[in-house]
Amino acid sequence: MKTLLLTTSEEDINLAASFVKEGGVVGMPTETVYGLAANALDTEAVKKIFEAKGRPSDNPLIVHIADFEDIKKFGLVKEVPKVAKLLAEKFWPGPLTIIMPKSDNVPEITTGGLDTVAVRLPQDVNARRLIKASGCPLAAPSANISGSPSPTTANHVYFDMQGKIPAIIDGGECEVGLESTVVSVKDDIITVLRPGGVTVEDLLSVYDKVEVCDAVLNKLKEGETALSPGMKYKHYSPKARVVLVKSSDKGFYDFINQQNSADTIALCYKEDEEFVRIPSILMGSKADLEAQAHNLFADLRLIDACDNVKTAYVRCPDSKGIGMAVLNRLIRAAGFEVINLDE
Ligand code: TXA
Ligand code: MG
Repeated sequence: MKTLLLTTSEEDINLAASFVKEGGVVGMPTETVYGLAANALDTEAVKKIFEAKGRPSDNPLIVHIADFEDIKKFGLVKEVPKVAKLLAEKFWPGPLTIIMPKSDNVPEITTGGLDTVAVRLPQDVNARRLIKASGCPLAAPSANISGSPSPTTANHVYFDMQGKIPAIIDGGECEVGLESTVVSVKDDIITVLRPGGVTVEDLLSVYDKVEVCDAVLNKLKEGETALSPGMKYKHYSPKARVVLVKSSDKGFYDFINQQNSADTIALCYKEDEEFVRIPSILMGSKADLEAQAHNLFADLRLIDACDNVKTAYVRCPDSKGIGMAVLNRLIRAAGFEVINLDE
């Protein structure tokens, strides 16, 4: 199959929508990461998403809508819980996904057999234009091969999906750079299942009962069920081994400068550049958590683009604000391999 790279012109959005209407899958820009979009209510179309990504079938997809009213229009949920309504008012359109009780209209394949459905109203105009032009809610996971770093440019999507999907809309670089925050709202408690663009601090500013699921920063224990199935898989990983290094600035320099083999690279802050004597990728300024989030997946893809790199040592980010989301992705990219030099 030939994969077209489309612009965001009216004509191109309509062309992408025509692929969706025929039951196809297209690459869709959003403010978080690019998605692989298909009609969320069409079992055969959603099946193609799982095939293109090589995604395990028990890992549910997020259903994207263009207006709050779409929830009712397409009959997606049994009810919109009170707390979900509040969150939607405060943070939609935006990088927040809300888990709600699913209606029978949503096929099982979309929700991985769960009785809940994840719904998101993205901020990105082009995502919303595509949803409207398609005339249906769009199921869309991140547009990477399952397990690899998520795509934040149309080129990343092309690299992973070339020949597998008919079209990708190029909407430029994703603003946030990592995926939406996923929350459940059961029993009037907001539980963060995956941290993202809307931070815990943001949630606490509108509601006081906010919990962060243990599995966000810790490995699931043997036999433990994942509240969000995506959390049990190794994720976001370059082919090279990634190791997270928790340490002071000086501790990191001492450690990294001893790693002088040619197949090793450092992922560190702009301020570290003059102290690190091995090849490095700069993730942005130490205090600029937004920049670290924005650059994260491109940096992880860059590791594999560097010839012969076998190991990447990465500085452990601050877990405040969007830093929690950066840390959550890095810990999984590292398969939970963390060196703690502070202990
Ligand atoms: O920002 C985003 O959310 C992007 C863009 C494309 O919108 N999408 C995205 O989708 O990150 P994906 O499939 O890569 O991640 C969806 C996450 C997975 O961890 C999945 O397990 C979880 O959401 N999820 C989806 N439906 C769920 C449900 N009903 N209950 C619990 N977790 C759910
Ligand atoms: Mg993903």
